[in-house]
Amino acid sequence: MDRIITVEGVKKTIFGSGSIKRLGEECKALGAKRAIIIADKALAGTTIVTDSLEALKSASIEVIPYFEVLPEPAPSLADAAAAIASKEAADCVVGIGGGSTMDVAKAAAVLTKNPGSATDYIGLGLVKNPGLPSVMVPTTAGTGSEVTFTAVFTMRESKSKGGINSPYLYPSLAILDPELTLSLPPYPTAYTGMDALTHAIESYTSLQAHFLSETQSLSAIELISGNLRGAVYDGSNMIYREGMLKGSYQAGLGLAMAGVGAVHALAYPLGALFNIPHGIANATLLPFVMAYNYPGNTEKFAMIAQALGEGIDGLSMREAASKAASAVAQLSKDIGIPASLKELQIPVEAIPEMAQGAMKVARPLANNPRPVTVDSAAEIYRLAFKG
Ligand SMILES: [Fe+2]
Repeated sequence: MDRIITVEGVKKTIFGSGSIKRLGEECKALGAKRAIIIADKALAGTTIVTDSLEALKSASIEVIPYFEVLPEPAPSLADAAAAIASKEAADCVVGIGGGSTMDVAKAAAVLTKNPGSATDYIGLGLVKNPGLPSVMVPTTAGTGSEVTFTAVFTMRESKSKGGINSPYLYPSLAILDPELTLSLPPYPTAYTGMDALTHAIESYTSLQAHFLSETQSLSAIELISGNLRGAVYDGSNMIYREGMLKGSYQAGLGLAMAGVGAVHALAYPLGALFNIPHGIANATLLPFVMAYNYPGNTEKFAMIAQALGEGIDGLSMREAASKAASAVAQLSKDIGIPASLKELQIPVEAIPEMAQGAMKVARPLANNPRPVTVDSAAEIYRLAFKG
């Protein structure tokens, strides 16, 4: 190994069915007396939130609700949550939901201790002070936000997306309770699961990958490919849900250590220009970017094909590697992911603007196993348009 590796991450993880019941005592252990609970409106009335509130109240923790999160959140939502947290003297932030909610919660936690707005901190390493203790409770097996140092926002005025990236965003605690994912309907199960698979594949093939990240990423690919169809078609089956939450968690760890690649870079303009949810954008683009990327690292893509359940005995490395993209395309098809940008109603004329937009997502592109130019980005979009 020719480089020095540093690993940071979420401080504590609790995994298991029924672990949400520990929310109150764990917040108390973090010193909490008044916790702001961040969720979206749809989740607010569900037993997931009412059980969480109950767990906090039974630990004598006062609850400040903020149930205003919207998909692909604007930075103003984090500003608003932080303002309420400060006004109400909250001493802990709890985010319950998918990636959008956890990103708002992570940002709000640091904004209570750093002046200005979330937009001031979009970039890498701009947050100066640690925030309030934060607890993340994912209700989808997808984003991995509960273990990463990133909070992504959509700036609709400038039609762009960007992330706050700072070690201060690592949560104090992640509680992963697979029971909370049981009620997720099939389609969001499918596309959030494909987002997790994208994290696993992109972190595994990232130029920043290393011996610790690779084991997490490859295990995640196996877990997700082995459980995603089941989670979509038999969503009340705990075995599939647990497998998916383990997979998305490991994919999140891989991503936290090694970053993501061109799928995420090319997906950002779909969200910023056309409001396509992050998971759907990634899921639709993933097989096309893999087909472009595999010559960049045939050995790793052959390993991915094997982890996806493809038989590779007797094949050359190149042949084995080429099976990875088709295996993902088949998985996408089986679970109802749109097969093309055309199906997502993206206009073909937008491709040049999208390619320009993707090139601005510099960090993921720098990790990609094969260099991506504006022309190759446009070509990937064209192929993805046709399907
Ligand atoms: Fe993602």
